[in-house]
Amino acid sequence: MKRTLLAASLLASTLLLGACGSKDEAAAPTLYDRLGKTEGITNIVDGLVANIGAETAVPNSAMLRSHKPMLDAVNGVNGAAPTDPTRLQRLRNNVIDQLGEATGGPVTYKGLSMLTAHRGMAVTATEFSIWRQQLEASLNSNKVSANDKAELYVIIDKMHDDVVGH
Ligand code: HEM
Repeated sequence: MKRTLLAASLLASTLLLGACGSKDEAAAPTLYDRLGKTEGITNIVDGLVANIGAETAVPNSAMLRSHKPMLDAVNGVNGAAPTDPTRLQRLRNNVIDQLGEATGGPVTYKGLSMLTAHRGMAVTATEFSIWRQQLEASLNSNKVSANDKAELYVIIDKMHDDVVGH
């Protein structure tokens, strides 16, 4: 009887140690991992940028007003040379870094705070929601799961008050 008890307790502690060991080895993937790391986030941000670009070209665009200074700097006005050809590229790279860092990746965002970046633009709540729709379309075409989208929107929606109304 004593022997059986000893064997049982040895078996239990072995199983317990085994379980603890495997937990340490396989940390749960972060949202950054689940979005496909920097490569997946780059695809999502490129989709977002393309969708916003397309929206600025429709009649009565909601995004054109806020993006016009940047588009003019990148494209040039009335045939003049662009004043800042890499401005859109810098914005895109900054958003990739920002989302990489915010989703738990080994990435450092080096851009402006959301308040400083959007100050003077007077972004409205409607514009914010249309920006979010462009993101949603990109997340869907990149086949991001409903759970991962919801987790990302928690991060995005926390920035709303720094982006809107300044
Ligand atoms: C949570 C939502 C948003 C995020 C995460 C975001 C992210 C960013 C980032 C990282 C930058 C670059 C900052 C830097 O240059 O250091 C930026 C700039 C900018 N954002 Fe946003 N943004 C958001 C919402 C919006 C909305 C709703 C609009 C307009 C409707 C907008 C328009 C712009 C424009 C025009 C720039 C400046 C580009 C330039 O002048 O170079 N953003 N944003």
